[in-house]
Amino acid sequence: MRISLRALWVVSLTLCFVLQAPMAIRAQNDFIESDDFYQRNLRRPALRDQSQRIEELLKRMTLEEKVGQMTQLTIEMIVSGRDQNTKVDPVKLEKAIGKYGVGSILNVADQALTVDRWHEIIGQIQEAAKKTRLGIPVIYGIDSIHGANYVLGATLFPQEIGMAATFNPELMKRAAEITAFETRAAGIPWSFSPVLDLGRDPRWPRFWETFGEDPYLAKVMGVAFVRGLEGSDVSSDRYVASSLKHYMGYSFPLTGRDRTPAWIPENYLREYFLPSFDSAVKAGARTIMINSGEINGVPGHVNHQILTTILRDELKFDGFVVSDWEDIKKLVTTWRIAATEKEATRMAVMAGIDMSMVPLDYSFADHMVALAKEGAVPMSRIDEAVRRILRVKFELGLFEKPGPDASLKARFATPQSRQVSLEAARESLTLLKNADNILPLSKTSKVLVTGPTADSLVSLNNGWTYVWQGSEESLYPKDRDTVRRAIEAKIGAANVTYIPGTKITRKPGPSNSTPTDQEEEVDIPAAMRAAQNVDVVVLALGEGSYCETPGNITDLTLGAPQLKLAEAILATGKPVVLVLVQGRPRIINQIADRVKGVLLAYNPSNEGGTAIADVLFGDTNPSGKLPFTYPRTPNGLINYDHKPFETENTAFGNMAFKPQFAFGDGLSYTTFAYSDLRLNKQTISGNEELTVNVTVKNTGNRVGREAVLVYVSDLVATISPPNKRLRRFAKVNLQPGQSRTLTFTIRRDDLSFIGADNKPIAEPGEFDVTIGGLTQRFTLK
Ligand code: BGC
Repeated sequence: MRISLRALWVVSLTLCFVLQAPMAIRAQNDFIESDDFYQRNLRRPALRDQSQRIEELLKRMTLEEKVGQMTQLTIEMIVSGRDQNTKVDPVKLEKAIGKYGVGSILNVADQALTVDRWHEIIGQIQEAAKKTRLGIPVIYGIDSIHGANYVLGATLFPQEIGMAATFNPELMKRAAEITAFETRAAGIPWSFSPVLDLGRDPRWPRFWETFGEDPYLAKVMGVAFVRGLEGSDVSSDRYVASSLKHYMGYSFPLTGRDRTPAWIPENYLREYFLPSFDSAVKAGARTIMINSGEINGVPGHVNHQILTTILRDELKFDGFVVSDWEDIKKLVTTWRIAATEKEATRMAVMAGIDMSMVPLDYSFADHMVALAKEGAVPMSRIDEAVRRILRVKFELGLFEKPGPDASLKARFATPQSRQVSLEAARESLTLLKNADNILPLSKTSKVLVTGPTADSLVSLNNGWTYVWQGSEESLYPKDRDTVRRAIEAKIGAANVTYIPGTKITRKPGPSNSTPTDQEEEVDIPAAMRAAQNVDVVVLALGEGSYCETPGNITDLTLGAPQLKLAEAILATGKPVVLVLVQGRPRIINQIADRVKGVLLAYNPSNEGGTAIADVLFGDTNPSGKLPFTYPRTPNGLINYDHKPFETENTAFGNMAFKPQFAFGDGLSYTTFAYSDLRLNKQTISGNEELTVNVTVKNTGNRVGREAVLVYVSDLVATISPPNKRLRRFAKVNLQPGQSRTLTFTIRRDDLSFIGADNKPIAEPGEFDVTIGGLTQRFTLK
């Protein structure tokens, strides 16, 4: 049969569209303007009005059935057996669903399960729910943090910090769509993501779960994540309900340690920590999870102003609020804000908690029944919570189709989805140093690969991977390349010597605590000897895996054994390319000036090894940009939007601050030149918009992608103004020699800040717009 070329083209384009292949993504991504993306995805899709069905059901429910809906238990409360032998225990299930009418179950028992095992478990849970008096389905929730990471074989993506570095919200949205589909394919309709806390303190062990330090970037990426998870019809079998977390201020504890107190005044809370949640609520998020810590002495779970006044009255959130793990109990045991658990339950529910992640006993339901009977919690408050929970269940289509759908398996973890993950990993990688154009390396080089992250899928993924801590090497797919294996595949094993040098292993902590990573030397002298015989050393350093509190550290400096290895390798005089596989910026000032190249990989996941080799050997031109400020010293923690005087040598005799790498840094193998920064007006007033044009040209000889960052500085303000703020960005693809003029619109809102009265204000005065080192001034009247 003869087919014309044109017909072939049409067929392949159609196929790409149907399969949502990477080609379609690339085409879409030729030019992405953050504001355009944001506006298109911000509005919540219209959902069917379910109020009549909800009210009818509510009228028929007993008090016990209502508090059952507000109760969330962990899977361990209904299963027995471990690992892949996890099975529903009929006696336990009967107690949870039959007796207590529990509305929600979460988590894995200890590790990720296959789709089939999930189908079995979820199917049995929903069967039990169907047999209850009113047959209300259970909403199962899981942490699909970077893909459906608790479903074996699922497509995993770079952790959020790497997704932020792509500055590509379309890619984030696509990754979230795949995550949603693969979660739903396992029969699970609810994900505890995205994390919308700001990564403004790299000491915080959940730093890599964030989109970095900037509120605007977090807001655009957060909206992309929510829209990808929930789509335009959350009842479809392609989507899941999202859960924004951890609302709010969780990421900024004074000590840098997880779940410790934060002091954040309301104007800064609103300026920095609220916008990502605000936008994600407007985009339609169905649920929200609460800050496990406390702000200004008030634990997140009893903060009425945050949970009700701001969330409900201001943001108009109409989904439901779920507590974090055991956090009502912690009001007694950790925060000591209530003397008894019953009182803690009352305080949390009255502050605005709709569902309690109890999750290991039935105390919440028992206390709630007692509180309601005493009138300490009014029925109206219980009805309100249950109404919200039922609404999400209706919206998800759980009443029509509660159980898993076996037919979805066919589209689970497709090669196309894997390709999207690879694209995301490639786009996240951030080249921070390239002295003497050491990179890309020649494919005929002889290479020593060394360092504790060189041969580790665990490091490439970090926490929330197959197990909570991400630490079970045996669960990782055998057919995905580590950095070492990817380099061997790229240039031939004969050209590669691998010596680990040092290793990171998990060791048990003090009694009962989760094991944590320990570093030790293995064979540094062997690595030194091997370096003599190669052209270049790829030194892969960084971190193992960690998650939440077990990830607390006492020093951001890279571990001593790794620094010793680095020194030994540098002493050989061979050129060194440092590849950092890590979830937070570990201090590298001791070696950074002497290595030739620095490639920051973050936690790029299972395709990360391949992506790193692609960048090292020039098959991919890097385009990631740093979504946070990389500190030079452990005490040098400062964000890019600091106050101007903070980085000047003169002020109070302070030391000039120079980060190791700045927010927005990221090199390419080509070069870009910025020119013709133009504003359409010198003065704007009222609600007039400012149009900003800038021309970006690819002045090198390779095709490249550039994230163009638009900063605005308010020169004088009643709350001392930050240095600059990111207000827009765009990612653009440019052929060698090609130039493109980009247009951005700045609105009055973009010039406002939260004033002393905790309300937004745009004050008249002068502002600077800065893009690619060019600056123009304008006046707001
Ligand atoms: C974490 C949450 C998570 C929950 C359920 C908590 O410890 O803080 O982020 O969603 O556990 O796994």
